[in-house]
Amino acid sequence: MLEKHAKLERNSIWLLIFTVIAVSIGGIIEIVPLFRMETTVEPVKGVRPYTPLELMGQQIYIREGCNTCHSQQIRPLRDEQQRYGHYSLAAESMYDHPFVWGSKRTGPDLARVGGKYSDEWHVAHLKNPRAVVPESIMPSYAFLADRPYGDWRIKRRLQTLAGLGVPYTKEMISEAANDYEAQANPDPIIDPTGLLERYGEKVAVRDFDGNPDEITEMDALIAYLQKLGTDVDFTTYNPDYVIKKQAKPAEKSK
Ligand code: HEC
Repeated sequence: MLEKHAKLERNSIWLLIFTVIAVSIGGIIEIVPLFRMETTVEPVKGVRPYTPLELMGQQIYIREGCNTCHSQQIRPLRDEQQRYGHYSLAAESMYDHPFVWGSKRTGPDLARVGGKYSDEWHVAHLKNPRAVVPESIMPSYAFLADRPYGDWRIKRRLQTLAGLGVPYTKEMISEAANDYEAQANPDPIIDPTGLLERYGEKVAVRDFDGNPDEITEMDALIAYLQKLGTDVDFTTYNPDYVIKKQAKPAEKSK
């Protein structure tokens, strides 16, 4: 056996071929199971796919490169949890394609920014960050309020995501354009009952950008921001790996 190995070590081509084979086997064993989401992500109650409006908000978030300055992953470290809230669960970004965890924090983490501020605050902040945070270095995104929702091919986008394993139903796909408009609560108001039935009662239906006459990119982006990190109810969330063993009561001092 060792002799054969010596032969292999003296012939660079064979060594290369066998190295590649050995590394591939290891790689396949490690990587392939990760392609199946259910083997890596534990489902958590409350996590739902994005509504069409929120999904478009995420597209704008990516288009504008918000993820280059903002992360969306709270690490299980004490300081992060005190600042941002419960650490991010894998399930909370299981429907993000692509995910926008980010790797740099020029601005704060946004994984749980949903509900932290009012819509008006977000409008003022996106239009001119310095108006609400004087020392801010964030760029202004005022133009989003002037850009009406165009042909975003919402239906196609939902279809594509459904193909990637996001549980969008046939009805969600066929009603995508209606759901998009219903959530932004335009004038005249479109009945949001179907939207709430499909995506759950927790979905925020309102005019997000303070301009009910038109659905703009600002509406979509704020709808997305207000949803971030709000799916899971952490007052009842109970991870399986909660430490089961109770700490022994300290011995009484004599
Ligand atoms: C050049 C880096 C940069 C980019 C790009 C950027 N931001 Fe920011 N952002 C910051 C900084 C710095 C802060 C902290 C100061 C402030 O609140 O304005 C911030 C703060 C925020 C806050 C408040 C967070 C909190 O918890 O107080 C939100 C929300 C936000 N940004 C959203 C966005 C969105 C949406 C985009 C893309 C449209 C974006 N940012 C793009 C740097 C950036």
